[in-house]
Parts: sequence; structure tokens; C-alpha cells
Amino acid sequence: MSVPAATRKKVESLREQIRHHNYQYHVLDDPEVPDAEYDRLTRELQALESEYPELITPDSPTQRVGAAPISAFGTVQHQLPMLSLDNAFSEEELRDFHRRVADRLEIEIDAKLSYAAEPKLDGAAVSLLYQDGNLVQGATRGDGTRGENITHNVRTIESIPLKLYGEGYPATLEVRGEVFMPRAGFNAFNAQAEKKGEKTFVNPRNAAAGSLRQLDPRLTAERPLDIYVYSVGHVAGGILPDRHSEVLDQLQLWGFKVCPERKVVDGIDGCLAFYEEIGARRDSLSYDIDGVVYKVDRFDYQRELGFVSRAPRWAIAHKFPAQEELTTVQGIEFQVGRTGAVTPVARLEPVFVGGVTVSNATLHNMDELHRKDVRVGDTVIVRRAGDVIPEVVKVMPDRRPERTRIVKAPRECPVCGSAVVREEDEAVARCTGGLFCPAQRAEALKHFVSRRAMDVDGLGSKLIEQLVAMDRIETPADLYGLTREELVEMERMGEKSAENLLSSIEDSKMTTLSRFLYGLGVREVGEATASSLASHYGKLEAIMAADEGGLQEVQDVGPVVASRITAFFGEEHNREVIQRLIDSGVTWPEAEPPPRATDGALFGKTFVLTGSLSGMTRNEAKDRIQAAGGKVTGSVSKKTDYLVAGDKAGSKLTKAQNLEVTVLNEVELEKLLSDQ
Ligand code: IVH
Repeated sequence: MSVPAATRKKVESLREQIRHHNYQYHVLDDPEVPDAEYDRLTRELQALESEYPELITPDSPTQRVGAAPISAFGTVQHQLPMLSLDNAFSEEELRDFHRRVADRLEIEIDAKLSYAAEPKLDGAAVSLLYQDGNLVQGATRGDGTRGENITHNVRTIESIPLKLYGEGYPATLEVRGEVFMPRAGFNAFNAQAEKKGEKTFVNPRNAAAGSLRQLDPRLTAERPLDIYVYSVGHVAGGILPDRHSEVLDQLQLWGFKVCPERKVVDGIDGCLAFYEEIGARRDSLSYDIDGVVYKVDRFDYQRELGFVSRAPRWAIAHKFPAQEELTTVQGIEFQVGRTGAVTPVARLEPVFVGGVTVSNATLHNMDELHRKDVRVGDTVIVRRAGDVIPEVVKVMPDRRPERTRIVKAPRECPVCGSAVVREEDEAVARCTGGLFCPAQRAEALKHFVSRRAMDVDGLGSKLIEQLVAMDRIETPADLYGLTREELVEMERMGEKSAENLLSSIEDSKMTTLSRFLYGLGVREVGEATASSLASHYGKLEAIMAADEGGLQEVQDVGPVVASRITAFFGEEHNREVIQRLIDSGVTWPEAEPPPRATDGALFGKTFVLTGSLSGMTRNEAKDRIQAAGGKVTGSVSKKTDYLVAGDKAGSKLTKAQNLEVTVLNEVELEKLLSDQ
């Protein structure tokens, strides 16, 4: 069969692209495209090569693993090649894999076959060589045959043993595993780098790979790296158990970290159940994974199955849906939220990412939008992880069409036309229309009726938007005046649903003070603060009458929150809405405020806390002072009796010293508290 010229060209172009991406990924630790795009290119090339095997050349990217080592490090020849894994992107592909395994082993497809199932860690593969229990060499995977010598760097990772524990280890033991950067460390590292104006990493995996390949081990040592080991390589002068899972148990006894999520499962059903279980917990793990790996557990079976070019036949990676994808920006619009925050949103060519079809992604705020320089027409990477709102990660500059324009911040609210202003020190710009702005009104209502607030069932976003657009509802109080006749006239509203809605509106009247407060949507007052306020004061009138100083005695309430609360209740309009709500029958069980100590040793004394304490949190300190009858406020004045200064106390300490307020350290506070 002769190969069409166009196919030859296509194959060459795919190889070119893959080589380029390999270089970006492996050498520069700075990939340009999401993994999903890279996988697609590779698969396309593989498909063409299997259709036209005469096109396969030894230097095709399909014929080797990763990229060549960079010369700055010495190279290390791997005694046994460090291979890659084949991927399964669907249950069907996984079943095909299992069928091939069963066929080769000549066992029944539904015979019990144990697989060692493990998360597929998203970091960088390393080989660690131990001679007589001592770490003598660390290497990257490199091209699979030769890697870079990174001994000095791996020695700085605290969870890699320099000397093995226990006994019975082979004289020569090569252990392989994945070095990764836990998410928390990654975020902290990037935040720090950004502050210093240094290069940030796109994801934890590149951060791990980049950190391992630092020329100066002192830099590696500063990076929060960790490791889980997942196999052995070259072994001599000793014996190991005859199952993969048992080898990992043994490695743990010798001092290596192995992933605690691993499990031996039975057959394909066991694999699928593991995939589901880990998939559901993916976002709550402290590190990134991009799938799970199944390995035939018995080594005799593994040997029988052997390898094909670059991957073992006895293992497969079952990938999770990609969390990053490429798509194009069709428009950039501005959304107005409940508090007036104007957020730029990208309208996207719909794309399947993170398990759902996404057509909008947040751009957070103007600074972010300009930093990323996203424009209409751009090809961008969108990311959707877990239940988090999809976001635009970055633009692909090479794919920008001609004549695009920088997006400007709107000066007027796109919904109500009021001025949009951005206060100093604030990242977001806000519409100044308040409840005059239909968008803010609708969002405030959605919040008011939401499950954790007044919990009105059956009043969805679309209906609220309609009611607001018709000027039928202006404030939450209007909700309780809706009639059956009005409702049945709304789009898609039958008699039955109108009745159900009315009855859930009625039911919502009986609520709690904490839900009611939260539902009012005072800025900065979330559920926790609403609940603290409710239990501290017991009655709404007391909260409405409280001044900023008094409010700051409440758990978690600092000066900013206190000022938001007084500002909210100071508005005539808000007081009116509250009165109308109560008049329509909204009610909650009243409570007396809990008794406060009036005879404690600290009765009548006012405290201010500043800096960080080591033996307790500031909130704990606040609770204990209040329990002893004292008051805790947010700012230092002449009325302050004590300033408790922890570590890194700043301007409050200076002010207290100027006003000659008694300053206590943590030990002195502790003494005062235990003296009573
Ligand atoms: S076993 C011959 N187990 O995935 C089998 N690999 O695509 C070699 N990886 O280079 C690998 N988690 O960097 C194995 N639990 C795990 C893994 C894992 C992550 C990485 C590893 C490897 C790549 C293959």
C-alpha cells in the first residue's frame, strides 16, 4: 500500500509538534498546551503509524519516552529502562486491556485476577539507587534509557531515606517513584514567587520537575517536595516478595513512603470501583493525580506478559477526564454580582473539560484579565477542577488572530448604567447602583432564598430574573406578597408548581435568626459570622442597635466586618425591608443573649489582641477573656486596658505604647487568666 503524500506530511507535522511539546515539557518544565492536547497529537500519530507501519522511524516520538537529558547534569544509564504507561481513557479501553492480559495469560476473562491499584501521581519520575542500604544515586527518567544525575537534589528531599531502615534489603536496590509537590506547598511557593516577581509554575507537576532539575541543590532544598515510591528497578544480591503489592509493603518497612491510597483489587470490577472511589476524592487529596494505575500484582504474570516498545503489557493508566482543555474565546462580558462586584466572564466555544461541557469561564477581575491579556478570538486553556468555577488559565499567544483588542474595564454597569468604581486596595470594581440595579437585586434575592438562608424550594434563578425584570420583586419582602394568579402567568409555571412554590414561601417564614441574618446578604457576613452574631446577641434588635466596638466582641468580627454591619443596618431602606419581612410573618424563636460573666476577674476590662500568639489562636484568647468577664475590641484607644501583643505585632503596639496602655505578652495574659 503506498502512503498518500498528505499522510506523510501530516505525520511529519505531528512529529514536529510533539517534539516541540516534549522539549517545552521535559527540558523547560514549561508546557504550552494541556496534557489532553498532547495526548491527542500522540494518539493521532500512533494511529497513522499503525495504519502505515512503513512510516515508523526510530526517531519518531512514539518510539521513545520523554526527551533527552540536558547536558548540564551528568547522565546516568538506567540498568533497566524506565518505561512509560499506556493510557485508557474509557471503561471500554480498560476492558480491552484486561482482555489482552487474560488472553496472553490464558486465563478466563472473569477469573479472579488481582490488580494492584494506585493513584497516578502527577509529578516527576525518579530512580533512587541504594548500595548496601545507602543512597548513592538519584536520576530522572530522561529518555527512559539515560536520565540526568540529580543525586544532590534528591538528597535534599526529607522523605527520601539516605540510609535504609531495618534489614534484609538487597545489596543493590533501585527504587522508583514519583516526586511531587503537594498542592498547598505549590500554592504557597507560587504566591511567594509572584510576590518577589519571580517565575511561577503552571502546575504542581512542572514545579516538581523544575525543582528536581535545579543546578543548585540549595534551591531544591527550599521547595516543598515529597515522594511516593511505586516500584523497583535493578535489584541484585537479595530477594524480594513475589507480588508488587508486597514489594511496596516491604519498601515501606525499609523507610520509603508509599501512597496510602493503594489497594489490591479483584478483576475489572475492582478496578472500576477503585477508579470511582479515587475519582470522587480526587480534589480532596493533598496532591494532584491524573488517573489511577492498575498493575497485574503477580510478578510471574508480569514476566509472562512482558513489554511492548515503551510500556509494560501488565499495567495501564486509567486517566480521569482532563481538567484543562483548549478552546476559543467568543466574547468577554461583565457580570454583576450580589454585592455589585463586576466580574469579567469569558464566553467560550463549548468544550468538554473536567467531566462537563463548559461554555463560560471566570476571569476573576480586571487585574487578572489584563495580566493574562485575554482577548476575544484568543485560544485559551480553560481549567475546571472539581466543583470549582471554570477559569481561563492562560492564552496561547501564537494562536492569536490578527486585529484583536485589549479589553477595557466598563465605566458603567452593563445592567443598570450606574457608575462602576473601584475603591483603593480592592481588586474588584463595583456597580454603585445598589438595589436599584436589577442584577444586584436578582442576586440578592437568589441569596435570600438559597438553601442555607431562607430555603425557599422551587424558586430558581430563571424565575427570579423574570420577576425582577417585570419589576414584580424589588426586595426580599416582595416575595411574601406574591399571589397565585401572578405566578401562573409566569413562563413554564403550571398551577401545581405555583401552589408548591407558594407553600414553600409560606414555610420559609418560620426560620432562625442566624439564617435570616445570613440571608440579608450583609457584605462579609457569611454563615459562620451570622451564627456567631445570633448566638451572641440572641435578638435581632440588639444586633441592629450594636455599635462597632460592641460588634467586635463577637467571635470572628473584626473592624471591617463590624463596619459593614453597622453600615447595613444604618440604611433606612434596609431597616424598612426588615420591618416588612417581619410584618409579613417571617419569624424565628427568640433567645435571650447568653449571660456574660459580671463577676469575673476581668470584668470591665477592655482588651485588644494583636500579632500572632503561639499557644492559642486569637479567637481562643478572645473566648477566654470574655468568659472571665473581659471585653475584646479591635482597636486601641484610651479606653483600652490591655494590649495583648503576640509575635510580629505592628501599629497597634506602637499606638498602645504611645497611649501608655499596659502591654501583655502571651505568658502574662495566661497568668492573668489563670489568676482569677
Ligand atoms: S508505574 C513500568 N505507578 O506515570 C511502569 N507510574 O506514564 C512504570 N506514575 O513514568 C510506572 N504514578 O512517572 C507507576 N503509581 C504509579 C505512578 C506512575 C505516577 C508516572 C510515572 C511514570 C508515568 C508513566
